[in-house]
Parts: sequence; C-alpha cells; structure tokens
Amino acid sequence: MKVHAINEGKTQLSTRRKTSSKIAHLVALALIVTIIPIYYPYIHYILEKPTAIPSPIDNLLNVQTTTTLSRHHPIYRSHIIPTTQKEDDDPKLVVVPPEKKEHRKRGRRKRGRREAVLKRTGGDGDGDGDVGGGGGGNKSCDLFSGEWVENPEGPYYTNTTCWAIQEHQNCMKFGRPDQDFLKWRWKPNECELPVLDPVQFLEMMRGKSLAFVGDSVARNHMQSLLCLLSRVAYPNDVSTSSDQNFRRWEYPDYNFNISIFWSPYLVNTDRTDRNDITKPFKLYLDEFDESWTSQIEQFDYVIISAGQWFFRPTMFYSNRFIIGCLYCPESSIRHRPSTFSYRRAWRTAFRAINSLKNFKGIVFLRSFVPSHFEGGHWDKGGDCVRTKPFKSNESVMEDYSLEMYKTQLQEYRIGEREGRKNGVKITIMDMTQVMQLRPDGHPSKYGHWPLQNVTMANDCVHWCLPGPIDAWNDFLMELIKREESGR
Ligand SMILES: *[C@@H]1O[C@H](CO)[C@@H](O)[C@H](O)[C@H]1NC(C)=O
Ligand SMILES: *[C@@H]1O[C@H](CO)[C@@H](O)[C@H](O)[C@H]1NC(C)=O
Ligand SMILES: *[C@@H]1O[C@H](CO)[C@@H](O)[C@H](O)[C@H]1NC(C)=O
Ligand SMILES: *[C@@H]1O[C@H](CO)[C@@H](O)[C@H](O)[C@H]1NC(C)=O
Ligand SMILES: *[C@@H]1O[C@H](CO)[C@@H](O)[C@H](O)[C@H]1NC(C)=O
Repeated sequence: MKVHAINEGKTQLSTRRKTSSKIAHLVALALIVTIIPIYYPYIHYILEKPTAIPSPIDNLLNVQTTTTLSRHHPIYRSHIIPTTQKEDDDPKLVVVPPEKKEHRKRGRRKRGRREAVLKRTGGDGDGDGDVGGGGGGNKSCDLFSGEWVENPEGPYYTNTTCWAIQEHQNCMKFGRPDQDFLKWRWKPNECELPVLDPVQFLEMMRGKSLAFVGDSVARNHMQSLLCLLSRVAYPNDVSTSSDQNFRRWEYPDYNFNISIFWSPYLVNTDRTDRNDITKPFKLYLDEFDESWTSQIEQFDYVIISAGQWFFRPTMFYSNRFIIGCLYCPESSIRHRPSTFSYRRAWRTAFRAINSLKNFKGIVFLRSFVPSHFEGGHWDKGGDCVRTKPFKSNESVMEDYSLEMYKTQLQEYRIGEREGRKNGVKITIMDMTQVMQLRPDGHPSKYGHWPLQNVTMANDCVHWCLPGPIDAWNDFLMELIKREESGR
C-alpha cells in the first residue's frame, strides 16, 4: 500500500502542481459520484417487505460508557493552522477571531508535532481545547481512535430483511463471494462502542427528528440506519415533495422522523449547462443552500457531510463575482484547489447553522471519508479487492484526503466556537480514520451485474449494505447518548 509522507513545506506553486497531478483522476471519479445519484435518483426499494420481521436482537454488547472526546484527539490540535491554509486562501477571507491569534502562535510552536498527530500514532497528552465534548462526561475515551475487531454476530440485517438497500450497494445480490467484511465492529482504544440496539435507539428518539444533509454517501448512511432499524419497525414515507432527493420517513409508533436533504456542495449552486451534469457547476460559496438551511431549524439532530463532489470541475463565486475555478479551461480565471471551495462551503454551512434563531438541536459534522482505489485510478483498472480491514498502523491517508480533512477540521473549530457563543451545539462524528481502515467495505465490481454497462466499473466510494457503514450508526447512538447525558 502507498504511504505518503506529509509534506510540510510546500510552496504555493508546487502545491498546486502536485495537487493537480495527484488528483486529476479524481475529477472523473467525482463525476461518477455525481452520476450514480442520477442513475439511481430513486431509492430502488426491494418491493416486497419481508413477511416475518426478524426479532430484535436483545442486548448485543451491553457495555456502557459515559465517556466523551479525548483531549488527545487531533481535533484539539486544529488550533494549529498549517502553512497550507495560506496557500489556498485569500488572507482577507480567513476568519480568525481575535482570541484565535494566541492559538496561532501556539500552533507555530507546536507544529513539529503535527505529523505524528495526523498519522494518529497517538496523542502526546497536551491537548489545549475543550471542543467536541458533551457536558461533563468521562472525557478520557476517544471514540474515534481504535481498531476494527472481529464480531461474529454481524451482520444485523440482510438484503432479504431490509428493503432500503439501494441497488448499487446491494453487494450480495451482485455476487460478492466473501462475507468476512460483514463481521467487524469498531473498538475504541479506551472503551467500548456498543453496537446499535434498534429498540433502544428508537426509544431514545421518541418524539425526535433527525436530518441528513449531504450527497449520496449521506444517503448511504441513512439507508444503513433504516436497515438497522428495520429489525424493529418500518417507517412510512411522509415526504412532502415528489423530489426523490428530499425524503421524510416517519416511525409512527415512536413519533420519530428521519429526513434527508440533498446538498452535495452545502452551498447555493447552479449548473453551467442545465442538461449536462458533467459540465462544471457554479458554486456560490458565500450563499446558503436554502433547500436545507431553511428546513433544519425544526430538527433535533442534523448530520451534515460533504466530500467527493468537491473534486469535480467547478466555478467559484463570491458576492456573485467569479473568484476561481477547478479544472476549468479558462486561463483567465485563477485556478484553485478543492480545499479552496471545501473550506468556504463549510464556512458558509456553519454560518447558516449559526444564524438560525430557533434551532435547539445538535449538529453532527460527519467528517470526510476517503475512497480506496488501488492499482490504478478509478477508470484505469483501480479497484478495492481487499477482504479485511487494515490495522491502524498499516495505512496512511493520501495527501489530498488529508488536506480535505484538515480543511474541514479547521472550519469546524471556527464554526463550533461561533456556535457556542450563540447556543448552537455542533460536534464531530469523525469517520475519516475509522473508514480509512475499511478498504474492504466497498461494492467494487459488485454494485452491478458483470456485463452491465456502467460508468464506474469498480465502486470504491460508496459502501455495501450491510457493511462497515453500519458502524456509523453505532457512533451516532453513542454520540447522541453522550450529548443527552450532558444536557
Ligand atoms: C440477496 O442476496 C442473495 C445472495 O446472498 C441473492 O441471491 C439475492 O438475489 C439477493 N436478494 C435481493 C432481493 O436482493
Ligand atoms: C473514564 O474512562 C477511562 C477509560 O476509558 C477509565 O479508566 C476511567 O476510570 C473512567 N473514569 C470515570 C470517572 O468513569
Ligand atoms: C414527523 O413528521 C410528521 C409528518 O411530516 C409530522 O406531522 C410530525 O410532527 C413529525 N414529528 C416530529 C417529531 O418531528
Ligand atoms: C502493527 O501493529 C501490530 C501490533 O499491534 C504488529 O503486529 C504489526 O507488525 C504492525 N504492523 C506494521 C506494518 O507496523
Ligand atoms: C456503454 O454506454 C456508453 C454510454 O451510454 C456507450 O457509449 C457505449 O457504447 C456502451 N457500451 C456498451 C458495450 O454497450
């Protein structure tokens, strides 16, 4: 496997060159992530609901923990503003509230430690922040540092018991031969992460509402939750719109709702060509995407994410003026890396959240999740054929994924702090490293029939259902528990 050193001292120019050569193939990959939702705009539910619902699993792993984010977690390091921030940012646009300056200075002093921290070879016990924690629980267990461990109990549903598996994620249907990838659970180093208990989850969510905001991976996550809960209850479709990208599901027995809002860029967008989705999108990086920002105020929990779409050809606007582009032919426009738009999109998303007057909910930022093509680019025979997870010391993220992740963490810290001033709770569901370790969880060639003419032969972006993405809901349950116990 590839192990990339983290290059600290890049100049602006070399960064851009390096980045563009490295991620050129991602343009096309991102296109695929774009196209899959188009090919599968509708959730192709397996039509027949099963007649016998499998009995809910009682106490799966009855291990209690009241711990919360550790001070060792890299999130505490994100005071440390890396040199690369200056490279893809107009200094005038960098929002650094006055109290941040101190952290910047500390950041410079500590930068030597960054590499170790980002490779997650362990914290050095000198965290200096207090973000992300719930209210006063045990702060010594970092849920997101750990290993995948064997779990013979898995999986907790199949394609015959759950009707919410979308075609291209129904890996068993398309003949995936191995099943070991279904038999792992996440084990934080310092504590246990209980597997989601659907009865307990539904009881916990009684009278509550949950929203997903994001792209097809957010939908993948939502479908995983519907499947895990399908052991106990089926929701009704109570969508108010006919647009398949905006759905609402209601669990009437629990008065619990799940909604999904399609917003792959999180900000207001326009197409340069109405009829051709492969043409660049215009991103109005300072404008809210009202399709979700006007809707989430009523929700108790909002899970927001964004990722692969930022590698697509895009034109960047601020104040309706063009300020740059990614993979555009025009030489007159300043070319900018993906992190440029990613940073501003998150900044605007947090500004939108923090401007809500009556929002009483909790926002979970589900962090950037890398893809796993090996042996070639996605369209050059690259594939994800591994059948078991990595150990945490066996894999290091590619540079471009790391840059996206770091960018997101920096904006999260600013957004979270602003939120605290306004009484808005924003916290992180840090799936980046957790999923970096799961090259075995993607559909690969089992997202379609062998002879089917599809754009992406091997899908190493989405996740099989059932599959490792089910663990995201173990995290969700634990994070909600922690937040609620701290309220
Ligand atoms: C479920 O997976 C099995 C293989 O495990 C496959 O034969 C079957 O067609 C799939 N069923 C559905 C409804 O997808
Ligand atoms: C917090 O968790 C750690 C390990 O996760 C444990 O050793 C410690 O006893 C816990 N502290 C409290 C107060 O529960
Ligand atoms: C769930 O959705 C239904 C239909 O839109 C609505 O009447 C109900 O109030 C919602 N419940 C919650 C808890 O938001
Ligand atoms: C990773 O750590 C394990 C012990 O946890 C060790 O056996 C293994 O050799 C290590 N692998 C690498 C590549 O360092
Ligand atoms: C696959 O689809 C593409 C685009 O729709 C088409 O150009 C191509 O000829 C098709 N290939 C086969 C083998 O059907």
